[in-house]
Amino acid sequence: MGDTAKLSMAGADFDYPVIKGSVGPDVVDIRKLYGQTGMFTYDPGFTSTAACESALTFIDGDEGVLLHRGYAIGELAEHSTFMETSYLLLNGALPSQAELTDFSRTISRHTMLHEQLATFYRGFRRDAHPMAIMCGVVGALSAFYHDSTDIADPVHRKISSHRLIAKMPTIAAMAFKYSVGQPFVYPDNSLSYTGNFLRMTFGVPAEPYEVNPVVEQALDRIFILHADHEQNASTSTVRLAGSSGANPFACIAAGIACLWGPAHGGANEAALNMLREIGTPDKIPHYIERAKDKNDPFRLMGFGHRVYKNYDPRATVMQKTVREVFAALKVNDPVFEVALQLEEMALNDPYFIEKKLFPNVDFYSGVILSAIGFPTTMFTALFALARTVGWVAQWNEMISDPGQKIGRPRQLYTGPVERSYVPLSKR
Ligand code: ACO
Repeated sequence: MGDTAKLSMAGADFDYPVIKGSVGPDVVDIRKLYGQTGMFTYDPGFTSTAACESALTFIDGDEGVLLHRGYAIGELAEHSTFMETSYLLLNGALPSQAELTDFSRTISRHTMLHEQLATFYRGFRRDAHPMAIMCGVVGALSAFYHDSTDIADPVHRKISSHRLIAKMPTIAAMAFKYSVGQPFVYPDNSLSYTGNFLRMTFGVPAEPYEVNPVVEQALDRIFILHADHEQNASTSTVRLAGSSGANPFACIAAGIACLWGPAHGGANEAALNMLREIGTPDKIPHYIERAKDKNDPFRLMGFGHRVYKNYDPRATVMQKTVREVFAALKVNDPVFEVALQLEEMALNDPYFIEKKLFPNVDFYSGVILSAIGFPTTMFTALFALARTVGWVAQWNEMISDPGQKIGRPRQLYTGPVERSYVPLSKR
């Protein structure tokens, strides 16, 4: 018999089972609460609510730990590749060489987009934000790939998962090409996943494109760092959309829409814009004061996290990667110095110490992406590209769970009680 949690209310006692995970906080199973007490729990923002069971990713925010299928993100970033980490997330174990070769080949076979989708792009304004295009095009995939939308069929689920992971770089690169008025570049399946994306983004049909191996590795590492992050807002959106039985392309489009917001995936764009606005180290104290001022809506972008109350382990890898990319590309952007000094000042400031606000993954990612040559508007699109494998893996986990139900939160109603309709002439 496991532990139980006791709730005493109006002279009655109710017992709720406590369920243990493999590591991390236990959960109180309150599924019977409403039936037994007629009450709901109230937890806006889900700060204390586990919405599902998952074996994919574990985060200990207090200790700054992030594990995918048990492997630490630092180790994966150092030794793995995005393809291998994707396999791990989808299948639960690291692949053998043969499995990895087979998986990489399968993904590369799905990189092309249905040719008619190019026409779809041309319906967008040239100045459309790449995330607007990503939401639209990814949602539209369900209109082009009918043969893999039966979510009850595991083969369909597998094919649509592979399609999403494989086509996302093509979709993101085409969004970029469209915005700069250059022709779309078809995938080259002889390149790596990330090398192919770089070529589709920065190559032009008129010239050969050579992939810079340092940039390729840095970007691949950025993709690993963004591959999954437990039940964050966009992943929960994908799960909620998927819980109704919607097809995976529609669900991932919903995740992209959620990711777009500045409090989530849009933070790397906002962080770089902020660093550029600060411009020189002497202006940092002014911005730190603004971030601390309750009457000023300004926040240090790339700082703070709902779960991490310690250094985000992904930010550590990012900081190292900035140095590598800057050295390889001989970049001397003052924005990195501003970032380093801002981090140091904030980490020594009582406000940030007391509130446990540390740099998150977005603080340095914008600096690297900008050095590689991506415009800020592409940053969140890159995040979406990398997070697709996490969304897809979480969606698959949910659909394969026999106990899966439609997600349907309840509410604390505070509106008017029932009242009679008053005809317009009497109001
Ligand atoms: N700068 C200044 N103060 C901050 C910051 C910040 N970046 N982040 C939080 N605080 C303060 C809040 O004002 C609040 O103060 P209070 O207790 O006096 O009211 C306290 O710290 C707690 O903040 P909340 O917003 O309640 O924390 P929450 O967990 O809801 O928010 C969030 C986390 C949204 C990430 C927040 O820290 C933030 O807005 N950061 C900047 C945006 C950002 O970098 N987002 C990226 C997140 S990572 C990702 O999506 C990949």
